Amino acid sequence: MPDHTELTPGRVCHWQAGPGSIIAEHAQALTRIDAIAEDILRIRVAPSGRLAPSHSWQDASRSLAGGRLSVEERLRVLHLETGAMRARLDLDTGALSLGSADGAVYASDLAPVRWRPVERHEIPTLAPALAPAVASTVASAAASTAAPAATPSVSPATAPTTSRQANSGGSTGLATTGLWLQKALDPREGLFGCGQRFGALNRRGQRLAHWTTDIHSPGLGVVDGCLYQSHPVLLALRPGLAWGLMLGSSGYSHFDLGAERPDALGLFSLGGELDYYLFAGPTPAAVVEQITRLTGRPALPPLWALGYHQSRWGYRSDAEIRTIANEFRSRRIPIDAIHLDIDYMDEFRVFSWDRERFPNPRATVKALHQQDIHAVTIIDPGVKRIGSSYPVLETGLRGDHFIRRPDGELFTGYVWPGASLFPDFCRTSTRRWWGDLHAGLLDAGVDGIWGDMNEPAIVDRPFEVPGATALAIPLDARQGDDAETCHAEAHNLYGTLMARATYEGLQRLRPQRRPWVLTRSASIGAQRWAVSWMGDNASSWEDLRTSLPQLASMGLSGSPHVGVDIGGFYGACDGELFARWIELGAFYPFMRAHAYYGSPPQEPWAFGEEVEAIARIAIERRYQFLPYLYTLAHRAHRTGEPILRPLLYDFPQATELHEIEDQLMVGPLLMIAPVCEPGVSERQVLLPPGAWYDFHTGSRIDGGALPARAADTGADANANAMHRRCLLPAPPGRMPILVRGGSCLTLGPRRQSTREPLTKLTLEAYPDERQGDSWTLIEDAGDGGGNAHDTQAETALAMTGGQAGPRLRIGPRQGGWQPHPRQLVLRLHLAQQPEQMLLDAVPQVDWRWDQADHAAVVTLDDDGGAHQLSAE
Ligand code: GLC
Repeated sequence: MPDHTELTPGRVCHWQAGPGSIIAEHAQALTRIDAIAEDILRIRVAPSGRLAPSHSWQDASRSLAGGRLSVEERLRVLHLETGAMRARLDLDTGALSLGSADGAVYASDLAPVRWRPVERHEIPTLAPALAPAVASTVASAAASTAAPAATPSVSPATAPTTSRQANSGGSTGLATTGLWLQKALDPREGLFGCGQRFGALNRRGQRLAHWTTDIHSPGLGVVDGCLYQSHPVLLALRPGLAWGLMLGSSGYSHFDLGAERPDALGLFSLGGELDYYLFAGPTPAAVVEQITRLTGRPALPPLWALGYHQSRWGYRSDAEIRTIANEFRSRRIPIDAIHLDIDYMDEFRVFSWDRERFPNPRATVKALHQQDIHAVTIIDPGVKRIGSSYPVLETGLRGDHFIRRPDGELFTGYVWPGASLFPDFCRTSTRRWWGDLHAGLLDAGVDGIWGDMNEPAIVDRPFEVPGATALAIPLDARQGDDAETCHAEAHNLYGTLMARATYEGLQRLRPQRRPWVLTRSASIGAQRWAVSWMGDNASSWEDLRTSLPQLASMGLSGSPHVGVDIGGFYGACDGELFARWIELGAFYPFMRAHAYYGSPPQEPWAFGEEVEAIARIAIERRYQFLPYLYTLAHRAHRTGEPILRPLLYDFPQATELHEIEDQLMVGPLLMIAPVCEPGVSERQVLLPPGAWYDFHTGSRIDGGALPARAADTGADANANAMHRRCLLPAPPGRMPILVRGGSCLTLGPRRQSTREPLTKLTLEAYPDERQGDSWTLIEDAGDGGGNAHDTQAETALAMTGGQAGPRLRIGPRQGGWQPHPRQLVLRLHLAQQPEQMLLDAVPQVDWRWDQADHAAVVTLDDDGGAHQLSAE
């Protein structure tokens, strides 16, 4: 019987300060605290007394101690301070209390860390990975169906042996220690983020495990909140303070967010040490900036990728792809990309084409390009194990790129192509090999890569054999350079490192273009390489609704480029649901409609003329908003700022809005109030503080009032005064869209694709008595470099004055990039028609009043110079 006695670090016998860090040796553990920056602390508690080494794939910045840490011992307490954070380590117990420099206490230990050996069957999430029956089933299924006779070259006996095999001998390499820690929660604290989840935006009261899972694999499902992605990171928000916490684990861990004890945040990590980071905030925006400063800023997508994407599992041939493209163009529905699902492959072999259905891939892609449509192809990680002359398999075996079982045999599982092998993306050489495999697709002209099934999703027998069950890679399979880790420790990274391998491959192979990679599975850091969607949803109102808190939580977790399958993947979508979904989807950071092959047609024209018209307008609106959305993509790339976000992000001081999840902000200037139920033609909308404008009518509606300067301090103001409600018309096709007063929205013309030049830039200006937020439009060529000053242009826009003296200031265009010659259309939204309009203090003769939209309109050629528009 294993000894289940719990241990704690005990008293500190000796401590030592280094630059930006301290190490404390306890009777039976070691604690290390690093000031990564003045607003980020890393805390590690290692029962073994030895800290785990960092891994080859990790970024050095995570372990960098870049901040200053002052250290002082007083009365058996170690007082640590950075500019923004304070920590107190109790030298008798090892408990840590934390807080901000100005005295607020947060994330303090209720008791010291404790640990004991954990038997994995105690963890329900890991059950499939442990089931012995499954392991033996695969062994026999592999033996019977992966017939070695057909493929002598891949039989384990002839496959190369490696150091990994040698290292795996006998030892499981698995750390079986489980570590627990409970931290005090403020009773008013909401807990947000945690990545891709179902359920309420505020996660308080939930227990969430972190283990990437294909929830639709047979025998699986949602256990402890696990979905395809895993982000053990949270944002805590109470009146006046936001702070964040992230676990530094890519293996199994969980958060108990007040489920077991309402006043406690429980952390559990399976592995050799408890490793976590604390972010000082003090606002939600600061927390997200700190998280992405540490884990990497989101990649800047090429402009085309912000356009509309059409996909379906079941576009089976070159002819069908061309027909879809033609339909979009002849119906004048804008589109920028068509996705090719697994149907394009030869027997589902990755990096191959079925030459009967796609006789000339280059011609297929060219036909799309001629219509200004980009091609995206799916790639799964499983490499078909049977068959001759399959270079992917052969080079993979030669390079020993596939994961092996602990006994040294190649791990075989089943996916679309039947018996398959799985690359070990933790290895540097494997990522390079995988990246280079994309050369053929790029040669054919493919523009983007869609990575799927990379949790990874595997079953124990061919799909056609009844009784298939999910199969896990053995937890003790060795992975990484020199077998540096095991699957238990690296599981959640599978999709992330596959995305990284793909991104880096595209970057190497086609350096002049920005890589665009879509992934289903992801974890912290994946935003550097990939956009993600939320997996296989259903055509239901429930799943439409769920997309709101789900995508908003992704944004708070550092992943701004996200979307869900518009119309739903499984099931039959009806016209009303599709209309509602596409009008909302026009504001998803990643906008793609996708469906299961067994579902009825789901293209925008599949539901009749009325829905087609709604879909066309929704997608056109997406294209009109692109200059704004693209600026948001640049901002996300610079600071991690989410594109789609909950109200709490922009209005943290309005505590009563913290849990609102049926309205979201799109960047700081726009709020959407989607309709997620059938048969509705109006919708109640909550208006946060300030003036708001109905985008559809241009009319002003006042929101709640902000108490003096509470916005800046985040003080606990009288919450109830901070919002108003109003009822807005919302028939299908008219989802309420509200613009924040004091802002200037930048819109483009209706276009069929991003390839059409922006010949007109419209500045929609919405006055407010409050000093508006200044806003900088960021533009570039839409692809290629794009990060340097000489390849970008920035234009500062500021709206001042209320209805009485409105003034729009346009700054001079800064930076080296030159737009296509274009008109500037300035539209000042006013309650009444003004007497005259002045441009640069000169009264205008040919301005006009747009009564329907309550806007005075002045048009000029965009000369890149500074201008001022005012009304009298
Ligand atoms: C998975 C993906 C889905 C795709 C299908 C076939 O279910 O989530 O998007 O269509 O595999 O490749």
